[in-house]
Amino acid sequence: MYNEIDLDKIDINREPPIEEPARQYHYMAKCREWVRAFEQKNGRRPCFSTQTFGCQMNARDSEKLSGILQLTGFAETTEDEADFVIYNTCTVRENANNKVYGRLGYLHSLKKKNPHMRIALCGCMMQEPGVVEKLKKSYRFVNLVFGTHNIYKFAELLSRSLETDKMIVDVWEEAEQIVEDLPVERKYPFKSGVNIMFGCNNFCSYCIVPYVRGREKSRDPKEIVREVERLAADGVVEIMLLGQNVNSYGKTFDPPVSFARLLQEVEAIEGLSRIRFMTSHPKDLSDELIDVMAQSKKICRHLHLPLQSGSTRILQAMNRYYTKETYLALVEKVRKAMPDLAITTDIIVGFPGETEEDFAETMDVVKKVGFDSAFTFIYSKRTGTPAAKLPEQVPEQVVKERFDRLLTTVQDIAAEKAQQLTGSIQKVLVESVNDHDASLVTGKMDNNATVHLPGSAQLIGRIVTVRLEECRGFYYYGKLAEQP
Ligand code: 5AD
Ligand code: SF4
Repeated sequence: MYNEIDLDKIDINREPPIEEPARQYHYMAKCREWVRAFEQKNGRRPCFSTQTFGCQMNARDSEKLSGILQLTGFAETTEDEADFVIYNTCTVRENANNKVYGRLGYLHSLKKKNPHMRIALCGCMMQEPGVVEKLKKSYRFVNLVFGTHNIYKFAELLSRSLETDKMIVDVWEEAEQIVEDLPVERKYPFKSGVNIMFGCNNFCSYCIVPYVRGREKSRDPKEIVREVERLAADGVVEIMLLGQNVNSYGKTFDPPVSFARLLQEVEAIEGLSRIRFMTSHPKDLSDELIDVMAQSKKICRHLHLPLQSGSTRILQAMNRYYTKETYLALVEKVRKAMPDLAITTDIIVGFPGETEEDFAETMDVVKKVGFDSAFTFIYSKRTGTPAAKLPEQVPEQVVKERFDRLLTTVQDIAAEKAQQLTGSIQKVLVESVNDHDASLVTGKMDNNATVHLPGSAQLIGRIVTVRLEECRGFYYYGKLAEQP
């Protein structure tokens, strides 16, 4: 819809419409006027830069912000050159917040050199109590602050912000609605994330996400299918369906629509070659989903299944609703249905009360499952979560030592698993020219592993057949096995 809208036909002197997304298009037209005036005065277009911290959800949100900025006439550039800098923040671990405060110090020095520079902050960190107060007190040079629930109002907030030097803050407690049909500027022409739900209802005891992203809300399946159809028609071959817990998609609809059913509808869309999804909570992974995956020609042979801990006692304290045994049984079931499935995971080390025995259970699961890769995290105390109040926080030195042991084991196992595919023929979606060697291109296999192969930019966006020649730990060097 948005590519059919002509902003120049909108009369910005009229009252802005109440309904969405029409209201936002009104403000986009107003921003475009501002951009034109800027251009006349300065002889160039204003430039923007976005920085994304955190997960795939944030990456997708940033594409929405870029879409609006580009439609209104801003040009993209580097942070040092930008007139409008926007940080889309994460708060899942404490160091994510620290990174943002650190970067703000740097931005302040840039702003002193370029007083026209405007700075906006959004994303999960803004939803956390205390952050806005701290910004108001110590970071007055920030122009605009908004949260996760009103990101769809970005055009309106931008328009207000462009007309004042005062700090504008608009952070909501809860989401009001899901607004469809706003512009998006994809980072890659050939692949895209697609939100299927927002928020999380699980309240894992260590996690701040349910507090900053709010309650679970599923998007209408018709809207999702419509978006994927449009993406496929626009040349996208791979999509990633995004939600904090995709397995509970559609449960609140009347009648409910399962995630497996949604996958089937998406699979039927012509032009798509690959479907990925993220993230699956082990407690909700249904037999129906396993069946649909096993039957599918498009769903990638990759399952991200966060373990968090291998100790049933700790899992209970984490509020995860599965045990060591049920997790292992689930892995066995999915492997039986799909022997070539890559399984990856997230693990937290040093949750309050974690003993050496608990940690040994985690190591045991890691060895038994043989994860293809794992994101390992040191537990980070997040104020406001139940775990933050637990008495037995594990000493830093003990956690660090466990973390190192876990990381070594995870990497050894992943390298061993990766080695097994050396010599095999694989389909690879070529994504970019290699950063270090321009005679190579880099792509992703079905199981999400990275492959470098000789080739040129012409291959970008194509799915090619590759022989894996050499394994280097968790990536490969390969060669085209057939002419594309
Ligand atoms: N400390 C450390 N890791 C965390 N995660 C979520 N909250 C915390 C925390 N407080 C990890 C989990 C989750 C991943 C996205 O981040 O492993 O799966
Ligand atoms: Fe956080 Fe648990 Fe929700 Fe994942 S499922 S976002 S870890 S509360």
